[in-house]
Amino acid sequence: MKVLVVGSGGREHALCWAISKSPLCDKIYCLPGNAGISSYAECVNIKVNDIEGIISFAEKESIDFAVIGPEEPLVLGISDELKKKNIKTFGPSASAAKLEGSKAFMKDIVYRNNIPTASYGCFSDIDKAKQYIHKHGAPIVVKTSGLAAGKGVFICNSVNEAINAVDKIMDEKIFGLSGQEIIIEEFLEGEEVSFFALVNGKKILPLASAQDHKAVGDGDTGPNTGGMGAYSPAPIMNSSLEKKIIDEIILPTTNALIDQDSPYQGVLFAGLMITKEGPKLLEYNIRFGDPECQVLMRRLKSDLLSALIATCDNQLDNITLKWCDEKAIVVIMASDGYPGDYKKGSIIENTFIAEKKDEIEIFHSGTLFKNDDLIASGGRVLGVTATGKTVTEAHKNVYEAINLIKWPEGFYRKDIGWRAIKLEK
Ligand code: AMP
Ligand code: GLY
Repeated sequence: MKVLVVGSGGREHALCWAISKSPLCDKIYCLPGNAGISSYAECVNIKVNDIEGIISFAEKESIDFAVIGPEEPLVLGISDELKKKNIKTFGPSASAAKLEGSKAFMKDIVYRNNIPTASYGCFSDIDKAKQYIHKHGAPIVVKTSGLAAGKGVFICNSVNEAINAVDKIMDEKIFGLSGQEIIIEEFLEGEEVSFFALVNGKKILPLASAQDHKAVGDGDTGPNTGGMGAYSPAPIMNSSLEKKIIDEIILPTTNALIDQDSPYQGVLFAGLMITKEGPKLLEYNIRFGDPECQVLMRRLKSDLLSALIATCDNQLDNITLKWCDEKAIVVIMASDGYPGDYKKGSIIENTFIAEKKDEIEIFHSGTLFKNDDLIASGGRVLGVTATGKTVTEAHKNVYEAINLIKWPEGFYRKDIGWRAIKLEK
């Protein structure tokens, strides 16, 4: 079959890599893709938010199955539009995509259904937002309600910091319309985990777990990014915790969506804080996490494409997924300056040498080929993944590979997986 993958990140590279191994797959197109993806797919330069462009491309090429990687086209309704053209599509409708597109919508569903989460207020008035901060004190968390590429969350250790965050979002409008409405919530303490499940309506098939390092600097310091590294599985996850998450968080959400005529179809990604009182929901994402998807794909032994199609066909009861016992790790190499301003256009060398060992696979994000050179063209640029019997071994393997890559204009965190490694000692 002809498969269309929408997106251009490490997530989509990992998805194309896994889909290309499926016996069901004859050809993959990726819009717009990147240099790494072009080894598996024909990349066509149509932007992920050009819904009309994507639809007419899919019709012209008689696409059999579409997989939507990022949140933006889903929030804009790409699934609904492709389905109108009878193109089977993996990913939720625009109305269900609001779980990620509007934190106000998500918090409202969560609150009405007694799903454990941080207590919060939702504001479109700057003075009321500030009053709430003064009333509740610090630490406190300020978030844009709309999409902000993982950068719209401010963890504030003082009232002043929180007031500044509100000013930046609502007065300076650094996130544009995404910050018209904000959420201010209780700071939750605990260990974070990323929980993924394939979902169709009431049916839920959990995937492997992962832990992500969002902060830009070693020791989980500095501003948040889309993610600087991840590993799978998360040592904190076990079957009783998984059951609690499904029963107390995921099922009440998917049932609430059914009740409001927006049944969920696709992958649902819950960002959770495992607190002393149990798991609490930080956020929902309506897509695979990036970089978490890269480590999940390294560990998935079953056919991804069949599983994604089964999700669309409401056949989740009929599949079981197998995961390899090995641990997987990914370290993101990013352009100097990310998540702030960064320069594009530097040359990256020796990725082919770094990738020679079986346990290493490099997934590209912001890359392109110019003549024969590999060029950095984004903030997050490469996801270097490795497997190992333990996270400690995978960690050693991944940093050995990174040391072979020549890219003076890039940087990476040196401590990805520290929490799991500490437990293995
Ligand atoms: P979100 O996009 O809402 O998941 O937030 C991004 C990151 O900010 C999360 O992965 C957490 O590390 C952190 N975060 C968000 N909300 C809270 C909270 N209420 N308490 C503590 N940390 C939070
Ligand atoms: N790595 C977190 C995310 O994809 O949102």
